[in-house]
Amino acid sequence: MCGIVAYVGERDAFPLILKGLKRLEYRGYDSSGIALLEEGELNIYKKKGKVADLELQNAGKELKSTIGIGHTRWATHGVPNDVNAHPHYSNDKKLAIIHNGIIENYASIKQNLISKGHVFFSDTDTEVLIHFIEDIQKETGHCLEDAVKLALKEVVGAYAIVIMSVDHPGQLIAARKGSPLVIGVGENEFFFASDATPIIEYTKNVVYLDDYEVALVRDGKLTIQNLDNTETVPYIQKLEMELETIEKGGYDHFMIKEIFEQPRSIADSMRGRLNAAEAQLQLGGLSNYMDKLVAADRIVIVGCGTSWHAGLVAEYLFEELARVNVEVEYASEFRYRNPVIKENDIVIAISQSGETADTLAAIELAKSKGATIFGICNVVGSSIARASHAGAYTHAGPEIGVASTKAFTAQVTVLTLMALAVAKKKGTITDEVFERLLAELDNIPSKVNKVFESATKIKEIAFIFTYAKNFIYLGRGLNFPVALEGALKLKEISYIHAEGYPAAEMKHGPIALIDEDMPVVFLATKDSSYEKIVSNIQEVKARKGRVIAIVTEGDTLIPTMVDFVIEVPDTHEVLTPLLSVIPLQLLSYYIAVMRGRNVDQPRNLAKSVTVE
Ligand code: F6R
Repeated sequence: MCGIVAYVGERDAFPLILKGLKRLEYRGYDSSGIALLEEGELNIYKKKGKVADLELQNAGKELKSTIGIGHTRWATHGVPNDVNAHPHYSNDKKLAIIHNGIIENYASIKQNLISKGHVFFSDTDTEVLIHFIEDIQKETGHCLEDAVKLALKEVVGAYAIVIMSVDHPGQLIAARKGSPLVIGVGENEFFFASDATPIIEYTKNVVYLDDYEVALVRDGKLTIQNLDNTETVPYIQKLEMELETIEKGGYDHFMIKEIFEQPRSIADSMRGRLNAAEAQLQLGGLSNYMDKLVAADRIVIVGCGTSWHAGLVAEYLFEELARVNVEVEYASEFRYRNPVIKENDIVIAISQSGETADTLAAIELAKSKGATIFGICNVVGSSIARASHAGAYTHAGPEIGVASTKAFTAQVTVLTLMALAVAKKKGTITDEVFERLLAELDNIPSKVNKVFESATKIKEIAFIFTYAKNFIYLGRGLNFPVALEGALKLKEISYIHAEGYPAAEMKHGPIALIDEDMPVVFLATKDSSYEKIVSNIQEVKARKGRVIAIVTEGDTLIPTMVDFVIEVPDTHEVLTPLLSVIPLQLLSYYIAVMRGRNVDQPRNLAKSVTVE
């Protein structure tokens, strides 16, 4: 949440930072701002609304500077308006700061500063932090970077910050704890950003800052120290990301581009891991801990939102294939309970961004109780990936649309590989089933392509239901988490109220909602619960509900019972979610577009939820 970009070098900072903020806008989009050092003056330009509004506000101005800091905000403290937008000044206006995170003890610090005469203009915790740094600098006479370190030792909470000072042109100071910060290292230039997307165009050399580290760029040189002044040599890594992966490539929205990328992203998540022809499966990132995973009495899966849904799919997979006890927890609940975790428990943390605050906190809690942590993340070098003992990247490529699509299928694919690897080692499945599943996994990308043949039909169904007020999604077994995911996709981007339910639970309450105005999406593929779901469809039809059924290609029964059918190719039951979720992604996308919603940046949401 919140995106930060900073630059120091020889280029024009304003357009560069503006472009970077647009790339990070998925992290927050209620206001944005940029601070520049212009002819010895520290000027801040900021505006409520999208980055495009900031651009418009400043169009035609001569903003000349080769150093600057910028921010796109997802409001935590203070409503979204011009004043609360970042950057923020210190009291004497000699310092400016951008911040992603939350300073939890800001209120007491603010009171103390007010008593010393500081005047605050915004309601933000960030403005308090920069005044606090200024105050320490003045009271102790320390240099700015030492004052920053002293202040950061006092604050409670999470932060990724970048600070610039009118007294030190050419200098940027950055620090992080709990919020991501990547430093791009170019020729005589440095970039700071919440993720690598604003940087990739200029350099592939990056340094991921660690918690409690402070980076200083001065005289064209980067140094990194911890809060106790111990210096570390910056570890420069090569970005593997390509520029085209973060551009729309001719599509109207990132979301639809990412939906259609799934044949490739699923294949990428298996690349180098699965060799179906030779019945080989290897997960390099897990190898050192594989024995622990195989020996585990229990697996606890933590995640949020769509990642939690992937966890629910994994529960079925691990239980069915590897015969191991699995519990799936909302990370946000898990972290505040006193969960019973034993040393031979395995905790699998699932996160696209690898930065979700609740998931990160759940990991820390589980670690403190002795559990081994496996991270399933998409963003390479992310906090969760680094906080885990072992893990596997999903390799879906950057996901920019706020609603998660390709990340989900990549997570499910990797979790399927994990469950299969454990099952094979434990001998809980036969070689024949193992080989069949590997072969079938190999076929999934082309089967996803086949689902896309129904895109026009799905668009027509979306047109019919564009103005529905509610939706119910029902599924059983492995399709139950898919029902939850379908409902989440629809509500978050179209703002239609939608509920996912296990189909059999419907009769315990939600059936009261069914009438001729209620669209009900059934996940009704040919699997072990097919007969049961047919009965559930009849129960809905008997009450005049309007049924859209996702069925297996060639089904002749369900099409006679329901209003609309969307076919998906036949596959092994345990792989069904990888296909059945695709029509639901498309349905929600088309409905949201027809309702005129901002699909890639739905209201109130942010891609990376780094606050609790
Ligand atoms: C839904 C969605 C969110 C995320 C959730 C967890 O489309 O994107 O529900 O799945 O915020 O995010 P990650 O996976 O980054 O931890």
